[in-house]
Amino acid sequence: MKITMIGTGYVGLVTGTCLAEVGNDVLCVDVDARKIAILNQGGVPIHEPGLEAMIARNVAAGRLRFTTDQDAAVAHGTLQFIAVGTPPDEDGSADMQYVLAAARNIGRGMNEFKVVVDKSTVPVGTADRVRAAIAEELRTRGVDTPYAVVSNPEFLKEGAALEDFMRPDRVVIGADDERAIAMMRAVYAPFQRNHERLLLMDVRSAELTKYAANAMLATRISFMNELANLADILGADIEHVRQGIGSDPRIGWQFLYPGVGYGGSCFPKDVKALQHTATELGRPLQILGAVEAANEAQKLRLVEKIVARLGPDLAGRCFALWGLAFKPNTDDMREAPSLEIIAALAARGARIVAYDPVAMPEARRVFGKAPHITYAATPMDALIGADALIVVTEWKEFRSPDFDALRAALKQPLVFDGRNLYEPALVRAVGLEYFSIGRP
Ligand SMILES: NC(=O)c1ccc[n+]([C@@H]2O[C@H](COP(=O)([O-])OP(=O)(O)OC[C@H]3O[C@@H](n4cnc5c(N)ncnc54)[C@H](O)[C@@H]3O)[C@@H](O)[C@H]2O)c1
Repeated sequence: MKITMIGTGYVGLVTGTCLAEVGNDVLCVDVDARKIAILNQGGVPIHEPGLEAMIARNVAAGRLRFTTDQDAAVAHGTLQFIAVGTPPDEDGSADMQYVLAAARNIGRGMNEFKVVVDKSTVPVGTADRVRAAIAEELRTRGVDTPYAVVSNPEFLKEGAALEDFMRPDRVVIGADDERAIAMMRAVYAPFQRNHERLLLMDVRSAELTKYAANAMLATRISFMNELANLADILGADIEHVRQGIGSDPRIGWQFLYPGVGYGGSCFPKDVKALQHTATELGRPLQILGAVEAANEAQKLRLVEKIVARLGPDLAGRCFALWGLAFKPNTDDMREAPSLEIIAALAARGARIVAYDPVAMPEARRVFGKAPHITYAATPMDALIGADALIVVTEWKEFRSPDFDALRAALKQPLVFDGRNLYEPALVRAVGLEYFSIGRP
């Protein structure tokens, strides 16, 4: 099939590449000429395990191309996937300008039947707005070209995006046009060979499903974080509690890890956007309000612990910080807890020496020449002369450090672990003072 992917970011690039991998003819378009230039020179603008090799293979096979040419993009695909950003607007609602611009562009250029697929996470009702935007452009041109609009929210996780896309738990399709439904079934058939994973529903339910999924996961995280904070006071060990409840199949193991709060490009904005929709309709989701408030507070939980141990004035202090990305296996720092932790420490006069396996180039871009942060070549280098280690992202390489060397490198033997990576007794046995989230 001929497919156009509009927006070549985390979702568009992964989706486009995976669709090419199963044999489709995919053209990815982006308004960001820098991104397209990197891709056309054989580079990859984001870090995603396995992506570079898959892109190279499909580009070499002639199934995957990248362009900034919007007209060529409209002309190419019978299926036009919209995978542009939907960042939060000032009021918390999802900013729809990029989605609607993409839709209008399709309307301005299309000369034959198109299926327009909303892949971006968009508020309920967006498919109607996309349909109207295209209709308006067609009217202006005085043509009546047929088209259908479909909702197909994406559930991939950064860091495991290829695996998620190639072997999805489910594929949600919201559609009411038979021709479009048949095409969507055909596109996704190669990804569900052992059993049907396609959930066909009406458009509005599909749109809401995506927000419901992210809101539920964010809720689990905030719930565990609040419980961990309580365990801190009660002298209980949240790790035992996690195992005690995760083993209940009604609860399950996923997303029960307490930490420094959720971040990234999806949970924070999707929680806000869903709440905005609900509030506008006079039905604010009380749980989500609490989820968000708990998360904001949680991002500063480690800083509270640092201040309780070292005092409010951190002038002249230096902290080694392991992990800048909002989670492992990505260089994405959007709404990463590291940003708030670094800002709060800097506001108290501290300096930070950071290390992250892949996100340091992104951090350099984010922080520019800010004097309070420098970068180390290795995790151990970051520790030299630091007053404490702060663990913010649970990268695998942080899981089993040489604790003796770690203690020797630090000026003070202090570890503030925002991801509960270490066994408290083991760390203390080597003479480190250890602070975690919810473990005594
Ligand atoms: N990142 C994730 O893990 C993830 C997972 C599921 C869903 N989503 C959703 O998918 C959407 C995209 O997210 P992302 O993380 O890929 O964003 P991103 O910012 O990485 O990529 C969006 C891309 O769209 C491009 N763009 C904007 N307007 C355009 C236009 N008119 N024509 C062509 N390109 C245009 C931007 O330049 C950018 O490269 C969002 O709605 C997001 O909520 C993201």
